[in-house]
Amino acid sequence: MTAGEEEAAPKGIDVATPHIARIYDYWLGGKDNFASDRAAAEQVMQATPTIKPGVTANRAFLSRAVRSMVGEGVTQFLDIGTGIPTANNTHMVAQAADPESRVVYADNDPIVLAHARALLSGVTAPTSFVDADLRDTGRILEEAARLLDFERPVGLLLIAVLHCIPDDDDPQGVIGTLLNALAPGSFLAITHPGIDQLPERMSAAEDALTKAMGFRVTFRTREGVGAFFSGLELLEPGVVPVQDWRPDADAEPSATTGMWGGVARKK
Ligand SMILES: C[S@@+](CC[C@H](N)C(=O)[O-])C[C@H]1O[C@@H](n2cnc3c(N)ncnc32)[C@H](O)[C@@H]1O
Repeated sequence: MTAGEEEAAPKGIDVATPHIARIYDYWLGGKDNFASDRAAAEQVMQATPTIKPGVTANRAFLSRAVRSMVGEGVTQFLDIGTGIPTANNTHMVAQAADPESRVVYADNDPIVLAHARALLSGVTAPTSFVDADLRDTGRILEEAARLLDFERPVGLLLIAVLHCIPDDDDPQGVIGTLLNALAPGSFLAITHPGIDQLPERMSAAEDALTKAMGFRVTFRTREGVGAFFSGLELLEPGVVPVQDWRPDADAEPSATTGMWGGVARKK
């Protein structure tokens, strides 16, 4: 770590040990990462070269999904598993499309929250943070209700976070509880690493991420991701590789990225 980096580090945060959120930030071309994170990120990239295009395509999906939802009249978002703020964060995309948009972020990682608070302290638009685990649905809903009106539709974003919830912790039940609190006309957007896309590479990525995160992550099949949308009306084109979900007209031809993505409406 350089002297400059030491100065830039958020107070009380250990930047000598690589951290998954900052590794992710590095893959996205962000500036909130340190030498230890970059070294770890490069190691994963060597094992799994698709990881960088994968996370970039995942962020681009987030923007398109949010814009689509605003296009359907949704101006409230609950983004759980926020990550370190980077370019095109949910509130930026939503508020660019409709300045009235309200966004509540939730993450369970103190490092993410320290970075997020520092980076978004000057944001005046209606945006807030909840320090909570996705599985703590009661707390997330209670805190989110301070800013969001649950009588009106909400866009629920679970972008690249459900792989952190093992089957034993009932991710389907967690999603069901959150959706039950939302008004008809709400949307659910999910992206998820797919174990059935580039199986060998994704299996290597699953192992490398498990090591970096310090707990086992679960990559799922397209069918497994599709099951998270049960009971909802899946928007076209369904659950597809993220880069193929309503690509922008000027999008480059897509390479396989390893991420599934989809958006559905609550009836
Ligand atoms: C891969 S990042 C994705 C960030 C962002 N959603 C995106 O796609 O760019 C996963 C994020 O989920 C958060 N996370 C992981 N497990 C979580 C949990 N159980 N509850 C809340 N957040 C969690 C991590 O701290 C991290 O910020």
